[in-house]
Amino acid sequence: MAGLNWTPCPSLKEWNRGRLEKIRQLILETTGETYEIERIQELPLNGEFGRWVLTDGKRDQGILWVMRLTNQCARVLAFSVANELQGNGIGAEGWRKFAISATALGIRTVQLEVRQDNGVAIAMYHRRGLRPKGRIVGFYRGHDGWLMRGPLLSEASSQ
Ligand SMILES: CC(C)(COP(=O)(O)OP(=O)(O)OC[C@H]1O[C@@H](n2cnc3c(N)ncnc32)[C@H](O)[C@@H]1OP(=O)(O)O)[C@@H](O)C(=O)NCCC(=O)NCCS
Repeated sequence: MAGLNWTPCPSLKEWNRGRLEKIRQLILETTGETYEIERIQELPLNGEFGRWVLTDGKRDQGILWVMRLTNQCARVLAFSVANELQGNGIGAEGWRKFAISATALGIRTVQLEVRQDNGVAIAMYHRRGLRPKGRIVGFYRGHDGWLMRGPLLSEASSQ
């Protein structure tokens, strides 16, 4: 997509209300999940490898937000690409950038939670080496989730 790039962004505490409101809307449209702006701002995102936005410089069209859990393990807290842009390789490119930067900073494993009915995302993570490690009952609004974990790989494999 011309002009769109995954770019590191400043701390969410420095964002203005309008930008945060649009991100809140993006999360709602892509996941159906509703978050308070204050809650979004408090996410403990890692400033070195975990604050990515997909932007053309004017508008945010995606987020990939990650925290450091331990020295070697990261946890993905949010990953969304605007609905109309999905399926074009943009998510894969975001994951690649995150994985390369986090690996350079010592991260070796990654984990995240995903709804069990989100087959596209589960398959995408599976191809990148993540496996379901535990069921999260009532993960979001009555939908169960998987905790997935695995090595941090920048590229998909066919498995
Ligand atoms: C998950 C998400 C961020 C991926 O972004 P994207 O730009 O659509 O990703 P890509 O186009 O790079 O596709 C990623 C992989 O999924 C595959 N894929 C994408 N859309 C697909 C579809 N509709 N059906 C089957 N496979 C699909 C791609 O072929 C690609 O395969 P790869 O693993 O071999 O690279 C995006 O789909 C999204 O925002 N979904 C809604 C929110 C969400 O579910 N977030 C994850 C919560 S844990």
